Amino acid sequence: MRFDCLTLFPDMFPGYLGQSLLKKALDRGLVEVHLHDIRQWAKGRHLQVDDRPFGGGPGMVLKVEPVVECVEAVQRQGPAPGRVILLTPQGRRLTQPIVEELSAERRLVLLCGRYEGFDQRVIDILRPDEISIGDYVLNGGEVAAMVLIDAVIRLVPDVLGDRSSSQEDSFSTGNRWLEFAQYTRPREYRGLCVPEVLLSGDHEAILRWRREQSYSKTRQRRADLFESPAAGRERQSDQPSEGSNR
Ligand code: ADE
Repeated sequence: MRFDCLTLFPDMFPGYLGQSLLKKALDRGLVEVHLHDIRQWAKGRHLQVDDRPFGGGPGMVLKVEPVVECVEAVQRQGPAPGRVILLTPQGRRLTQPIVEELSAERRLVLLCGRYEGFDQRVIDILRPDEISIGDYVLNGGEVAAMVLIDAVIRLVPDVLGDRSSSQEDSFSTGNRWLEFAQYTRPREYRGLCVPEVLLSGDHEAILRWRREQSYSKTRQRRADLFESPAAGRERQSDQPSEGSNR
């Protein structure tokens, strides 16, 4: 799967790209991430990418020409154009069902904004899928783009060692339950002991305990997950998934 990130701050990405699961996926050729500096499409002596808003008001607005021309040039690279996503607090909220939908694409073009936003004509011309990662305002779309990439690559075949593990993630289609508590060695730390049942070797009992844990945690913290069939959660089951706990 290919991601193209269009940004004024490409240097924000390499630290993230060089770590952990994503680094392995890049090294194995399962995922490609291409960074593009929007400023390279700016014109004039000052390579200006932003300007004051017509009508007045605070802040600066990203100009239409460099952004549109950058997207068009990037789309011509690679075998086929990608789905354009604009990261913005005005977009539809990113959820696991949307992540699942995006993971089916071969290529995503992620447009990261800064300042007070884009000239509206960027949206009118490119008709991007506008996505927000939550109801708060970041300084720009770069961190949101990394969040999106991070969530999507988990679903790219072979990126996770065990393919089934992402299917059992909380919020994914087929699992509306929060995670049960996990423990590893030591068995006791500062007087806190691992629940006996997990040491029992009784797989039925362990499964039951984990289901109860998932259920009561979900009821306590996110009762809305039981109630609302909204936000693409219609197909989810009424049972917590077995096994994995992500
Ligand atoms: N850019 C600024 N805030 C954002 C948010 N919450 N989600 C996506 N992009 C953003």
